[in-house]
Amino acid sequence: MSTPLMENHDGFSALAATDRVAGQLYTDPEIFEAELEKIFYKTWVWVAHESEIPDKGNFKKAMIGRQPVIVTRDRKGALNVLLNRCRHRGASICEPDKGKANGFTCPYHSWSYSLDGQLRGIPYPEGYEGVIEKKDMPLQKLRVESYAGMVFASFNQDIEPLEDFLGDAKLWMDRFMMQGAGFGIKVQGEHKFRFDGNWKIQLENTTDGYHFPIVHRSWMASVDAETADMLSFMTDENAVTHALGNGHSVAIMVPEHVELDADDGTEELQERFRHIIDELSETMPADQVRRIVRSMHGAGFNLNLFPNVAMSMSFFRVLRPISVNETEVQHMALGLDGGPESVNRERLRIHEHFQGPFGFGTPDDAEAWDRVQRGANGNPQMPIMVNRGLNRETTGTEGWKTSHVTDESGMRESYSQWKKMMGND
Ligand code: FES
Ligand SMILES: [Fe+2]
Repeated sequence: MSTPLMENHDGFSALAATDRVAGQLYTDPEIFEAELEKIFYKTWVWVAHESEIPDKGNFKKAMIGRQPVIVTRDRKGALNVLLNRCRHRGASICEPDKGKANGFTCPYHSWSYSLDGQLRGIPYPEGYEGVIEKKDMPLQKLRVESYAGMVFASFNQDIEPLEDFLGDAKLWMDRFMMQGAGFGIKVQGEHKFRFDGNWKIQLENTTDGYHFPIVHRSWMASVDAETADMLSFMTDENAVTHALGNGHSVAIMVPEHVELDADDGTEELQERFRHIIDELSETMPADQVRRIVRSMHGAGFNLNLFPNVAMSMSFFRVLRPISVNETEVQHMALGLDGGPESVNRERLRIHEHFQGPFGFGTPDDAEAWDRVQRGANGNPQMPIMVNRGLNRETTGTEGWKTSHVTDESGMRESYSQWKKMMGND
């Protein structure tokens, strides 16, 4: 079970065993550079939710590893992901984080590009006669595909179709979107922060049920009894983690909210939402009110999609690796597209209460992650253990490795994909 770990870089994949990974995975800049090349520039990386770019002309910026990209919806309504780098001498051509435009004009010498990346105009073009053709100089275009409104891009032109990569995670993406309660899901707002730690520390945390009642004791003490009870899953045998393959995993914390569309009518709506229930009941049938209010905390699970996005109860968490010991985390609060104002406002308040900068949840997580990095810096030769639940992990009919939500099956799945990708040349 305890495979020895290599202490050099002869083979990165030897640094991850089933039950433990080498501490250097958090501390070694050479490993970090290899991760950018072998993971972030090779696989599908999440860049947007379609609600962020709903109309023709909408764009947003994103990062894939260190490479800046622009996600656009062009005049035909198609999605494009373009490298944010002018083909002339390399200046970035788009600075706003998001917006609406007819195209992009480089500020340096005014080469202009359409929303699908074609080079449209060059000022004073005489010097280029017989030198270049505009059609040969489009912005670099990435592969782009989407599923359930989630837009992914890849620098790897030969990559497998997105749906093959997502595999069984698709079922959980569909389930996640059920929190729309008949409405679409939209990104309501976002905030970003950085922590002094490696990106995989956050990747691990998304399916780490074990830390929840410990790190989040202050959050537990700050909410109403029903909410605290809903998230008291330590001894709930239906609260499990499934390893879904290709690095993806799902941690179920509220089993009764896995499939929000299935409602047997037995669950009592939370009294804390009484003002919403009363307001909605004036204009909506009771079953629709139930649907919306049962979904107020989002889906009953955290879905981790390797390598950079989590669909976590009622928000998206996006990871951006900055350096071996610094990571940017972006949280995007979700609401109902076209849904009642009061519901979306309440969802924002719930988000702030846990994830916000003054919230009772994420700041505590970030303190733990900083400490993990500091500990790893102290002695990178010592392993990081991911063996909890190994002896009680089972494989169900779906083929998913499954164990209790407090076990480390999700982390083992991430590291199995890490190992596979880092072993590829
Ligand atoms: S660098 Fe963009 S036009 Fe010159
Ligand atoms: Fe946490």
